[in-house]
Amino acid sequence: MSPSTRSDAVHVRAPGKINLGLVVGRRQEDGFHPLATVFQAVSAYEDVTAHPAESGVTVTVSGLHADRVPTGEQNLAVRAARLLAESTGVEAAVRLHIRKGVPVAGGMAGGSADAAATLVACDTLWRTGLSRDDLAELGAALGSDVPFPLAGQTAIGRGRGDLLTPAMSRGEYHWALALQDTGLSTPEVFGVFDELIAGAVVDDPQADRTLMQALRAGDAAELGRALRNDLQPAALELAPHLAETLAVAQDAGALGVVVSGSGPTVAALGRSRQHALAIAAAVTAAGVADDVLCVTGPVAGARLSGGAEMLASAGTPGDRG
Ligand code: C5P
Repeated sequence: MSPSTRSDAVHVRAPGKINLGLVVGRRQEDGFHPLATVFQAVSAYEDVTAHPAESGVTVTVSGLHADRVPTGEQNLAVRAARLLAESTGVEAAVRLHIRKGVPVAGGMAGGSADAAATLVACDTLWRTGLSRDDLAELGAALGSDVPFPLAGQTAIGRGRGDLLTPAMSRGEYHWALALQDTGLSTPEVFGVFDELIAGAVVDDPQADRTLMQALRAGDAAELGRALRNDLQPAALELAPHLAETLAVAQDAGALGVVVSGSGPTVAALGRSRQHALAIAAAVTAAGVADDVLCVTGPVAGARLSGGAEMLASAGTPGDRG
């Protein structure tokens, strides 16, 4: 049999995220802002397949907003594969394919999920055997949001957002996401944040206690009221039409609405899956989003699925991707 049959490919699925709370501190000397953020992993996924290759790292992309993803050296998955190879001393040889389900430049860490999935996939393909902590450390060097999709579920992110503590969360939350075709640049949003806050900001941001209590209690109404994003005014400054998106979702009875991360995705919390669908329908009818998506959270972090899982379970047909 050929040493490189289809079943040698490793498939990893990693989730996008919503920031339920994002408290931003004063810009530091290194240009980064200290954060206290509460991440929830949601059921919009990036699927990365790592195929064996003779040499080099290449990537192809399909799915949501695929045409807006760079496929050169700046692609975060390519950088993740190269970093893993460098730090473990193996040859960087892999053909990656990304199927996108998380909006591009949407404030939901889709590129970071690609990097997280690629680290897990290449670690398996190359048999480099790193721990999740080792992978998270490599991930943090690629971007502040990369460690979280490795972990998934619900976590508080401190430092640049990369230092994670798992958080207790009860129940399942149903979200309507309003997507925009034009993304926002994270550094640009932080830059406008700096201009807007005019020095009235803390050095040591803390996660909101009401929000954490709502998650522990599984109280969706309380969580909706506690949603908070300090970057939202900056995102609205750069994309003023989002104010209408937030208003339409709120009027549709959302328990809470918030811009996710640096935006422009708006997340609206529904009372149920049906209610989230109704909010998405209202947003579509009002023409205040280019696309809508209904997701649930929290969900698991990056994990092997498809091909590799089937190999591990000796040919049991698994869920696709
Ligand atoms: O870490 P990442 O590459 O995702 O960050 C992109 C940019 O976002 C940084 O260069 C910085 O301008 C900004 N940022 C920040 N504070 C953070 C995280 C990101 O200012 N905690």
